[in-house]
Amino acid sequence: MKNLKIRLLDRLEQEFALTAGQIKRFIKDFHFQMNKGLAGEKSSLEMLPAFVDRPSGKEKGRFIALDLGGTNLRLLQLELKGSGRIEKLAERKFVLKEKYIKGKGKDLFDFIAGCIKRFVQEKGIAGTKKSDIGFTFSFPIRQASITSGVLMYWTKGFCAKGVVGKDVVGLLNRALAEKGLYNIKVAALANDTVGTLVARAYRESECDIGAIFGTGTNACYREKISRILKMKGRKTKGSHMIINTEWANFNKINTTVYDRILDKNSINPGEHILEKMISGMYLGEIARLVMLDLIKRGVLFNSKLPQALRVPRVFKTEYMSYIAADRTVGLVKTNSLLRKLGIKDSCCQDRQVVKKICNFISGRAACLSAASLAAIILKIDPDLSRRHTVAVDGTVYEKYPGFANGINACLKRIFAKKSSKIKISLTKDGSGIGAAIIAAVTDEN
Ligand code: GLC
Repeated sequence: MKNLKIRLLDRLEQEFALTAGQIKRFIKDFHFQMNKGLAGEKSSLEMLPAFVDRPSGKEKGRFIALDLGGTNLRLLQLELKGSGRIEKLAERKFVLKEKYIKGKGKDLFDFIAGCIKRFVQEKGIAGTKKSDIGFTFSFPIRQASITSGVLMYWTKGFCAKGVVGKDVVGLLNRALAEKGLYNIKVAALANDTVGTLVARAYRESECDIGAIFGTGTNACYREKISRILKMKGRKTKGSHMIINTEWANFNKINTTVYDRILDKNSINPGEHILEKMISGMYLGEIARLVMLDLIKRGVLFNSKLPQALRVPRVFKTEYMSYIAADRTVGLVKTNSLLRKLGIKDSCCQDRQVVKKICNFISGRAACLSAASLAAIILKIDPDLSRRHTVAVDGTVYEKYPGFANGINACLKRIFAKKSSKIKISLTKDGSGIGAAIIAAVTDEN
């Protein structure tokens, strides 16, 4: 029995580990898909032009930032002071109820416009003066300019009807006008990764990549316009433009049986494979599926399937974070969490197995994140001859114990000593702030 347990856990560890050869292959496939995406060919990486480059850091002015991408909607009033300094003048969060996330798109945008109205009235921003909004929309948008963008498809559990295929700026401006807010207009639309890159680049010019590791995952980077083949013939300013890779959808990856079950039972089978292996929306579910398997094989919880683990998605990624942080002898904290979930009679070994499972899964997520970042860095700078700052935001990166270190360790495996040229900077709230900066860049042009 003991041997069987050890053998199974060793097998699991191997399945969730990435060899040097697999990482190399991953990066090669990633580049292939990036190139196809840039050429406008069918690819698992959409490579969406963001119609903005990084800012100079000198942009000035007052702007409203609207950040929509999760269960909260955030509004900020910011004063950009130039020389990389920003003052937050006002902030307000609104909870997005399920009826807006999954209901009619018209209701969602009416609600957003209503929140903006309350915000400007409460904070005394309303008036006859024109106010520009930087709108961070953390979903895949196909843009033809910085002030418009068509939602390609919803992600992260959103499914408000009548929005896919429409220009979200148009929908918001219309809803604002209906509320009588004629002087408030969306001056810039950006994905959250783009906002994060821009927010960091405003004060740190070496920043050329932005990434999110949260409920969802994605990254953007600064690309030479001459290499964005699908933009050929279009009038553009400057030499570079930020590209939103939408890497969540990258799918040339070795998966385990657990990943395949998760994918099959998801609302978008075959899509967003990388995101399903990295992001906070899914890690807990992979852990639950592994636990179910080990219970069935008789090496966990005495073969008894607890009621709590029968329901899909009940085991949250934040539980994994909590278990990963448990350093007590006998994993007492893990025990109390399991008890809360109705698993009352776990033994110490069970808890160690659960912790190991969490480690394999989060370790793989960190390694895949690093491999994806490495692919982007090598695309920009094949010899890693310059310094690169990666602006990062998201709860998994910020809160999951060991996740950030796991990324750094894997970058070291890939780049050895040269990895010191890569700096990863947590850029909290970057996405909203970034959109306001983009509004300022647009204002100057
Ligand atoms: C999802 C969205 C993407 C976003 C990411 C992080 O993958 O498709 O646009 O950037 O989540 O929020």
